[in-house]
Amino acid sequence: EGTTYYIPIVFHIVLTNPNLVTDAMVQAQVDQLNRDYGGVNPDSTLIPSWFKPLFAKTSIQFKLAQRTPDDNPSTGIERITTSKSSFAITDPSVKYTSSGGANAWDHTKYFNVWITDLSQGYLGYATFPNSGPAAEDGVVIKYTSLPGGTAPYNKGRTLVHESGHFFSLIHIWGDENGCSGTDEIDDTPNQGTYTSGCPTSSGGPRTDACTTTSPGIMYENYMDYTDDACMVMFTLDQKARMESALNVYRASLIT
Ligand code: ARG
Ligand code: ZN
Ligand code: CA
Repeated sequence: EGTTYYIPIVFHIVLTNPNLVTDAMVQAQVDQLNRDYGGVNPDSTLIPSWFKPLFAKTSIQFKLAQRTPDDNPSTGIERITTSKSSFAITDPSVKYTSSGGANAWDHTKYFNVWITDLSQGYLGYATFPNSGPAAEDGVVIKYTSLPGGTAPYNKGRTLVHESGHFFSLIHIWGDENGCSGTDEIDDTPNQGTYTSGCPTSSGGPRTDACTTTSPGIMYENYMDYTDDACMVMFTLDQKARMESALNVYRASLIT
């Protein structure tokens, strides 16, 4: 209790017109991240009574980088004009200046986030701790997923979700269509597959083939695939896993 982990974050805006994303839009995204990770998001009122006791306030907070890797003053936002209209999620070229993207800043000191246009309808992707090349460590999100972007993914929850992966969280259904897939989190109910759209809990808990009784599945979780307006919580065990991953694998980010 009492310790807040502040993570310096740098946004690399890589677009044919990077000025489409204003500093105010980036700040709104950081604010959304901090509300959601702090568990102070006003829409937590959507959490049904049976899941309220599991609602977490994590100790993780984000702040725009104030210095570049060369120790010059920075806003934590850089804009790169690219000739590529979009990037596939399998294409790391967005992360390299030499291929029309932007090089990461030292991943041991900064949480790197690339804002770009992704092809084929993807909203974002992330690297897990201890995975992949250092130069590619971080999160990529589609520019329309920022707050005020394109409905129904217009509340900045894509970066909340992807940052969950960055801190080691697995999708709540365990990435397998069946009941044996697991997210390795005890307090999230077993869930057979992802949830789309915006379900309602007004009729009581929503069950599935893997959790057949109350309290049902937790489609309100950031690690499901629900619309931005419906994902409103991390659980206590997800908080523990993220904070542990931060302390074990990404401790050098803590300022
Ligand atoms: N499909 C993406 C992923 O698997 C992001 C999902 C984000 N969902 C949202 N409501 N913004 O990482
Ligand atoms: Zn995901
Ligand atoms: Ca679980």
